[in-house]
Amino acid sequence: MNLETNYLGLKLRNPVIVSSSGLTDSLDKIKAAAEYGAGAVVMKSIFEEQINYQAGILASGSDYPEAEDYISYYTQTHSLDNYLKLVESAKKSTDIPVIPSINCVTADNWINFAKNIESAGADALEINMFFLPLDKTVEPGVAEKLYLNMVEKLRTILTIPFAIKLGQRFTNLFYTIDQLYNRGANGVVLFNRFFEPDIDINSMNIIPASVFSKPDDKRNVLRYVAMASAINDRISISASTGVYSGDDVVKYLLAGADTEQICSVLYKEGHKYLKELLDFVESWMRSKNYDTVDKFRGLLNYKNFMDAGKYERAQFMKYFSGYD
Ligand SMILES: Cc1cc2nc3c(=O)[nH]c(=O)nc-3n(C[C@H](O)[C@H](O)[C@H](O)COP(=O)(O)O)c2cc1C
Repeated sequence: MNLETNYLGLKLRNPVIVSSSGLTDSLDKIKAAAEYGAGAVVMKSIFEEQINYQAGILASGSDYPEAEDYISYYTQTHSLDNYLKLVESAKKSTDIPVIPSINCVTADNWINFAKNIESAGADALEINMFFLPLDKTVEPGVAEKLYLNMVEKLRTILTIPFAIKLGQRFTNLFYTIDQLYNRGANGVVLFNRFFEPDIDINSMNIIPASVFSKPDDKRNVLRYVAMASAINDRISISASTGVYSGDDVVKYLLAGADTEQICSVLYKEGHKYLKELLDFVESWMRSKNYDTVDKFRGLLNYKNFMDAGKYERAQFMKYFSGYD
C-alpha cells in the first residue's frame, strides 16, 4: 500500500500528523511520533506574547494583571531559544517533516521571528490565529482582513510553506480560504480547538470545559472539509478534530483532506495508537482495492453535487421531518 501524501508541497509518507499540543513538545515525544509512523509532526505552539515579551514590547499596565503575570511566568519557563533548539534537534533525529507552530492574535511584531524558525530548519510553519471580535462597532469583514494582512506579510518573510489553522466561525469560510491562498498560504487546517468556558453552579465560577474533543465533534468538520476540498482544490487541507479511529481517518480522506491531525485520542491511547490507525487504513484500502491514497481521496466531497446549497437544504428538511 502506498500512503504517500503531498501536504503544503512536502512529501509525507502518510497523511496522519500529530497535532500541535503537548504531544510534540519534546524531542522524545517527536521521536516517538516518528517511530510509530506519523507522516509529520506539528510542534506545540509558541505564543505571540512570548515573542513580544522577549522583545520587551508587551504592553504593560493592563486592567488584567493576572494575565500579565501568567505570560511573564510562561515566558520564563518556555524560552524561544529552547524552541528553536527543539526544531533543530527534531530535524536531526527524525526523517519526517517538522512543522513548528505560532499562536497569534495580531499580524504585528511576532512575524519576524518566523524567519528564525525557518533558519532553524523547519520544513513548514503552522499559524494558529484567533481573536474574539468583542467590539460591537467593528464591521464584519474587518476580522478577515487581519488574517489576510498577516498572510501577506508572512509570505514576504518566509520561503518555506505555511498553513493557517482556522476557527469555524467565518461568514464565508470559502472566500477566506481562497483569499488566504491568493496571498500565499499553502494550506489551511480545519479547525482549531479553542478555549471553551463552562459554569460551575456550586462555586458559581467560570471554569474551563474539557480541552479534549469527542468523536462527534468531527461531524461539522467533515462537512467543511468536503466543501472546501471541492471549492478550492489548489490549497492543502488538513482536517483537525475528532479523529478517534481508523474509520475516522478514512472518512476525512474520502471527504477530501490531504492530511489529518490527531490529538485528543493520542492523549488517551499514547503515540503507539498511530500504528493502529495506519494499519486500519492499509487494511481498508486492501479491502477496497486501492493501492494509493490519491485514488480515493475526495471521492465523497461536494464535487459530486451540482448544487451543494440545494443538497444541504434538502438534507436539512429530511433530517428533521423523519421524527414526529
Ligand atoms: C492538551 C491540548 C493542547 C493543545 N495545544 C495546542 C497548541 O499549542 N497549538 C494548537 O494550534 N493547537 C493546540 N491544541 C489543539 C489540537 O492541536 C487540535 O487542533 C484539537 O485538539 C483538535 O484535534 P483532536 O480532536 O484530535 O483533539 C491542543 C489540544 C489539546 C487537547
